[in-house]
Amino acid sequence: MAADSRERSARPAANGPNHHGGTAVCPGSYDPVTFGHLDIIGRAANVFDRVVVGVVNQPVRKRKTLFNAEERVAFITSEVAEYGNVQVKPFDTLLVDFAREHGAKAIVKGLRAISDFEYEFEMNQLNRKLAPDIESIYMMSAPQFSFLSSSGVKELAMFGGDVSGLVPDPVAARLQEELKR
Ligand code: PNS
Repeated sequence: MAADSRERSARPAANGPNHHGGTAVCPGSYDPVTFGHLDIIGRAANVFDRVVVGVVNQPVRKRKTLFNAEERVAFITSEVAEYGNVQVKPFDTLLVDFAREHGAKAIVKGLRAISDFEYEFEMNQLNRKLAPDIESIYMMSAPQFSFLSSSGVKELAMFGGDVSGLVPDPVAARLQEELKR
């Protein structure tokens, strides 16, 4: 079908008979990973053949990370072994280039409250402009993780709050070491 009539037909070209889960990328800063992130990663691992968790080395819109990329990758790697189809890698490039490099046809992200929507909508438009062939897919967070964020966890830890049940134990221990005042 010609491109202009394709645009009017309002549906994408069929992918052919070879539909399969394929590879998805779950990107983020993960500074540090929370049980909310791990819930999304695990759900993606159950839908896609392979999931590559992309850990942004130096996020552009955020202050310096608390944990370096190597440690953020290690926290996640030790939590995802049970899935068998999840790899964790740092990246320094555009997200869509990282996705392409791994043959991913989808970017999977979690959505919590409505407050996530505006930021994700912007990211979605940017990523779509750069790579219309890579679909962004959003999973609604489980209710118990709706208000869980890495920055909230860091704030709790900084003031001596209990972060168990929000992040894996090794992460909680490292948070305490880094943030006790
Ligand atoms: O909110 P997060 O976890 O810091 O999100 C990081 C990421 C990469 C998922 C988000 O910034 C995004 O979707 N960026 C798209 C634009 C891009 O490729 N930027 C370069 C990497 S920061």
